[in-house]
Amino acid sequence: MSGYALDLTLTVNGERISERVDARKTLVDFLREDLALTGSHVGCEHGVCGACTVRVDGEIVRGCLMLAAQCDGATVDTIEGMSDSGEIADLQAAFEQRNALQCGYCTPGMLAAAQDLLKRGAVPSRDDIREHLSGNYCRCTGYHAIVDAVEAVAQARAKGGRS
Ligand code: FES
Ligand code: FES
Repeated sequence: MSGYALDLTLTVNGERISERVDARKTLVDFLREDLALTGSHVGCEHGVCGACTVRVDGEIVRGCLMLAAQCDGATVDTIEGMSDSGEIADLQAAFEQRNALQCGYCTPGMLAAAQDLLKRGAVPSRDDIREHLSGNYCRCTGYHAIVDAVEAVAQARAKGGRS
């Protein structure tokens, strides 16, 4: 570690964590390098691609645009936590069933963004889904299958079932 360091206490995926962190380290680098939570990916590092999407205090953020130091006292949920809790099990199954991923590089961020939309409760239109996911780039799928999967889960959740 070089430069100025800070002591940080936060809750990550339900676990209270205290770490010393470089003041300049981004949240996504902290998660990946210091906590070995490598499900959040690093693509553009400029807030454009959405690969680094995680949840901080209930809201999705770009992990590459936020400093770890800004998360002192915060609650952070990564794709590992969302997956382990079963919160997005239906979305994960729908992505698999509908071939909504190929290389999978965008998928953690895509799932986090999709869950952010669906937890609002209403069934979004396909245009709403596209709009909400427009900050998450996928270089493989052409998006159609992703929208299909998210739409199917939205409809299934509205009926109280699984996709
Ligand atoms: S790596 Fe953060 S938005 Fe691309
Ligand atoms: S599945 Fe490859 S970037 Fe989306």
